[in-house]
Amino acid sequence: MSATPLTVNAREALDFLALYHQETGRPGLRSRQADVERTGTLTLSADELTFGARVAWRNSTRCVGRLPWASLTVRDLRHVTAAPDVFQELVRHLRSSFARGRIRPTMSVFGPGVHIHNDQLIRYAGYRAPDGTVTGDPQNVALTEHLRRLGWAGGPGTPFDVLPLAIETHGAVTLFELPPDAVHEVRLVHPEYPAFADLGLRWHALPVISDMTLHVAGQQFACAPFNGWYLGTEIAARNLADQARYNLLPLVARTLCIGTRDRRALWLDRALLELNVAVLHSFDAAGVRMADHHGAARQFQQFETYERRAGRAVRGRWSWLIPPMSPATTPTWHQTYDETEVTPNFTRQTPRWGEVPSGRCPVHR
Ligand code: ARG
Repeated sequence: MSATPLTVNAREALDFLALYHQETGRPGLRSRQADVERTGTLTLSADELTFGARVAWRNSTRCVGRLPWASLTVRDLRHVTAAPDVFQELVRHLRSSFARGRIRPTMSVFGPGVHIHNDQLIRYAGYRAPDGTVTGDPQNVALTEHLRRLGWAGGPGTPFDVLPLAIETHGAVTLFELPPDAVHEVRLVHPEYPAFADLGLRWHALPVISDMTLHVAGQQFACAPFNGWYLGTEIAARNLADQARYNLLPLVARTLCIGTRDRRALWLDRALLELNVAVLHSFDAAGVRMADHHGAARQFQQFETYERRAGRAVRGRWSWLIPPMSPATTPTWHQTYDETEVTPNFTRQTPRWGEVPSGRCPVHR
């Protein structure tokens, strides 16, 4: 054993190995520890990386859908670092994780020097007109303008144009258009109001987060996009409903003949409810997996029970775990959570096109 003091990263590597061997029951902890003590670093095996990624999910305080953490499929692509290869693997990720609607939680871990500028693999453009109005997703205006500066010619100009991917490898950025058959979308209809379909609304099936760094064993993987399946409220109570996003509640109310004159008749709430019904119904009818907020809360309770039985503490951020509609109807509302962060886990990256304005609440996703 060397006498040189261990670095913070080496210490984290040792902690990780202890956790890995304790939880998996695999033999060989001593020799792996000796590797770290001798070299000061650890080259993770594919199995260790998989375990680390799964535990990072388990430790994600903002995620209400952690129950199936141990089922995460991890694609070890640490040898992939060239932009065209990264792109090809991202397309494969989209296809295999969609799994004809069954949706498999999946993560692809790429090699060093790779960065995806998009915060999710599938994002709708936000085009800002000179008068300030936005066509598409206002949240993606900065990303859209960044991609334009990188040379994107722009899409057809619908409210749901899928953005190209900007993949950076060792400082050089390349744009790639996703093949349409890799991007599954669900057209939104309402089970009782045929007029709802005329709104022409849709959303993509897969939320693939691509702007978070995976931290495992003192190492950082900056390009490790991952997905689960959507929770209905993410789309219907936020993406399509927020005033700073698609802001569709007034239009939904008008379309469903919910009078918008009397605030206290709760037309906003009624429109919100019907939009949520439409999203859940449409995904179900299309055979695309989606959670609803009552089911998700129940699953989270189950997760808490399993974790308690395994002797582990569950950490969480209450404001992220409660649903954005009818939160007090879920048991989560009535609980408190320990917010401390432990590794392995994920951290959000700064967008490549500039700093996030400080002092503002991070965007809930
Ligand atoms: N809230 C984000 C969105 O609407 C997705 C965040 C991840 N969600 C998930 N169900 N895994 O696109």
